[in-house]
Amino acid sequence: IRSVSSLKYDGIKVSLTDNPKVIPPHDKLIFGQVFTDHMLTINWSHDDGWNTPHIVPYDHLSISPAAACFHYAVECFEGMKAYRGVDDKIRLFRPMENMKRLNNSARAASLPEFDGEEFVKCLKELVRIDQKWIPAHSTKCSLYIRPTFIATEPIIGVQKCRNALLYCINCPVGPYFPKGTFNPVKLYADPAFVRAWHGGVGESKMGGNYGPTIRVQTLAESEKNCDQVLWLYGEDRQLTEVGTMNIFMHWINEDGDPEIATPPLNGIILPGVTRDSLLALGKTWGTHKISERKITMDDIKIALAEGRIKEMFGAGTACVVCPISDILYLNESLHIPTMENGPEVAKRFYKELTDIQYGVVEHDWTVVV
Ligand code: COI
Repeated sequence: IRSVSSLKYDGIKVSLTDNPKVIPPHDKLIFGQVFTDHMLTINWSHDDGWNTPHIVPYDHLSISPAAACFHYAVECFEGMKAYRGVDDKIRLFRPMENMKRLNNSARAASLPEFDGEEFVKCLKELVRIDQKWIPAHSTKCSLYIRPTFIATEPIIGVQKCRNALLYCINCPVGPYFPKGTFNPVKLYADPAFVRAWHGGVGESKMGGNYGPTIRVQTLAESEKNCDQVLWLYGEDRQLTEVGTMNIFMHWINEDGDPEIATPPLNGIILPGVTRDSLLALGKTWGTHKISERKITMDDIKIALAEGRIKEMFGAGTACVVCPISDILYLNESLHIPTMENGPEVAKRFYKELTDIQYGVVEHDWTVVV
């Protein structure tokens, strides 16, 4: 049994552990496997509204087995990071974007909304308390922050929840893919599988959008020699997103112009913060047309045959920027010459983004903790 010391300030009740864990060496970190000493919990009930936020020692939750999160996936989550900068300061990256998305997902899950600015205050406090867990400055490491929101109502009727828990756990992380940073990944694209559809909840960060992808991901890895799934949509096989990231293409478009393109946010694609940031950074260059446009598998095949595709890469909080080398589509392996082309644009995005996140360049996208 852990004993805890308690103090209360800034509206957050804090109970510190007196039994801190051993922090693993940063070069041995595997994504999402070790968690820091503390977590944040905020309870909500329909009758009393939001309770005081608590920062408590990381521990199991006690939840009724009847809770709606277990039965009907009434839950959503976020993914964000804290970075240890070159100046040793700790920064969050565009945290209010995650708060907006969390509340959008909460609405889709019929969960209540929480004030984003207040939640960021709580997250900053949690990060400060566990700051020794944030790896020393290295663009390969960071602290992954996982806000999670679950319906805890102990009733198995399918109904709007009257009890919920918003909590956050954090883990020090290295590269998301076991292959490491900037090693290209192979994608498996099979129109037989669909991740999301119009009128559904594909743009929300809900567990229900990820759990059902695991069997296809397993197929991709174990039988197709691929790393991730490229989700297609519709008769014309539009590219939507990759398992854990949005997708970008650098090519010479049909009009002969250099273009950086990503599929548009049409309700079936996760609105990635990294995606949005790359679009904004690319626009400052003035070198390429920056487009949110439909891209189909036929567009890719034709452009490849004509030698117009320069690079493809994924972008996401967990994976940052990740080059793509091949797409296995209808048993045909399409080689994407990303690595042969530098990858010039992917590397530039990676550098500009991480320079901001790690404080090499000061930018109003970052919030010092
Ligand atoms: C992220 O990039 O933050 C994600 O949430 C991807 C994931 C590990 C599900």
